[in-house]
Amino acid sequence: MKRLLSTAVLVLSSSCVCAGRIGDGPVIEQHVDQAAAESGALNFEHLFAEGERLFAAKFNLYDGQGRPATTGAGAARVAGSAPLFIRTSGPDANACAGCHNDPFPGAGGDIVANVFVLAQALDPVTESVSGQFSNERNTLGMNGSGAIEMLAREMTAALHEQRRQLQAQAPPGQRRSVNLVAKGVRFGELTVNESGALDTSKVEGVDADLVVRPFHQKGVVVSLREFTNNAMNHHHGMQSVERFGLARTNSRDFDKDSVEDELSVGDITATTIYQAALNVPGQVLPDDLPALRAVIKGERTFASAGCVDCHVPSMTLSRREFVEPNPYNPAGNLRPADVQRHVSFDLTAQGQKPRLEAAANGGAIVRAYTDLKRHNLCDATIRHYCNERVRQAGVATELFLTRKLWDVGNSAPYGHRGDLTTLTEAIDAHGGEARASRDAFFALPRAQRDEVIEFLKSLQVLRPGTAALVVDTTGAPVTAARLAVRLRGDSAGH
Ligand code: HEC
Ligand code: HEC
Repeated sequence: MKRLLSTAVLVLSSSCVCAGRIGDGPVIEQHVDQAAAESGALNFEHLFAEGERLFAAKFNLYDGQGRPATTGAGAARVAGSAPLFIRTSGPDANACAGCHNDPFPGAGGDIVANVFVLAQALDPVTESVSGQFSNERNTLGMNGSGAIEMLAREMTAALHEQRRQLQAQAPPGQRRSVNLVAKGVRFGELTVNESGALDTSKVEGVDADLVVRPFHQKGVVVSLREFTNNAMNHHHGMQSVERFGLARTNSRDFDKDSVEDELSVGDITATTIYQAALNVPGQVLPDDLPALRAVIKGERTFASAGCVDCHVPSMTLSRREFVEPNPYNPAGNLRPADVQRHVSFDLTAQGQKPRLEAAANGGAIVRAYTDLKRHNLCDATIRHYCNERVRQAGVATELFLTRKLWDVGNSAPYGHRGDLTTLTEAIDAHGGEARASRDAFFALPRAQRDEVIEFLKSLQVLRPGTAALVVDTTGAPVTAARLAVRLRGDSAGH
């Protein structure tokens, strides 16, 4: 291993990134210039294409793949003390798309693409996938994630405004509380006590700072950008300048692999924009009339069984733009104060099709089937979803974000670990806060349960470029009028 690394260093120091070169060299020959992204010299389409290229790039030694002197959490370790690749602690893959590719690049992954979350911080865990070292998680899809990030930002702003008003209006020396609500979702109660201090002990499903973090199944990452900075380092040993560069670490080669400034600020912007602008999941309606009727009826039963208490069918964004960077980004990620101009695009008019649905008031409709809130699905008898042992970002091990269901029809396997092969098993494992809803579902006759499953199966990531969000099995748009004709059993609807 040591010899391989020193050979690599030798080769690298005599290499140059020149036009027209032949032989081995970096996969990323040119980095994205953030100033050009901000000025608009690099337009949206260009940024998306660059992001797509970075997401699919199989990084190599010349790019700076690997992190011989540092862990996936950025801590120091003895240079070369772990292998270049290791399935547990990472680097564990050649490209983002190595895991995120099912059914299309940018989406989720098979159980073989699972990640041992937090093993990267204990680097190197070379011999064990035991739950004592890491939390094994299944790969999620990023389709629609631009809308998800913007929803979370608007929810955070609403919660912060409620907190501000509570503090401004509470009479001195008196205790006062407010029910926290954002986009119709309740986040418990916030109190100002007699001394004027905030009491967050009754806040639910979100951190005490009231920042809605929509990423990771645990809900602990605020933005696609923060996730990308983490993932580039964790999975590929690729350090971004904004997280690991000179300004923050006093080093241009933080991981000591002889490659400096591995990912530019613009590279991270492009990778973020690509993910944010991926096609939004939609619905595929079955050709077969009984199956189509089942989908329609199943959707109603999904509501009456209480599934929608957490899997909220739709939320409305008040703005249509995705704006980068996110104002709630933690240090080590680009923030609004670091840029001259934002980079933004219209989620309903730009990006891969199908796109987000515009709402009449200038906003947009997000049909993600989540409340972006954490819940506990464990009780005395149902314990499947509390298998984890390592706390992530201080969040109790049994709490998980309500899973988005808008891609559930083609994102098997199920559950945060991806160890459930059918939708019925995933529902059966709902205990705790979801126990009443689960029991209501299993109290239904089999035929009615199957209709709910048929409805869930219709929610899918569509082929990129699909013309509409609701389509038939050939990908042709299904309008409300056409659907009504079909439901009457009229063959003219086909
Ligand atoms: C080895 C497989 C693997 C690789 C490689 C990988 N990911 Fe992931 N990704 C996952 C898994 C597993 C999750 C779910 C993590 C969790 O819930 O804790 C995930 C989650 C995400 C999420 C959060 C999605 C959500 O809705 O919460 C983003 C964003 C993401 N990955 C981006 C990336 C980027 C960008 C890269 C490349 C730099 C990358 N991933 C590389 C497996 C991978
Ligand atoms: C109290 C909130 C809550 C209620 C009510 C609820 N769910 Fe869930 N659901 C969750 C959470 C949280 C998860 C993530 C579980 C995990 O993997 O840790 C989830 C996951 C799922 C999954 C797995 C999706 C995947 O891709 O892995 C399915 C399917 C699902 N729910 C369907 C339902 C149905 C159907 C109902 C009604 C019978 C329902 N849920 C009621 C919170 C809820």
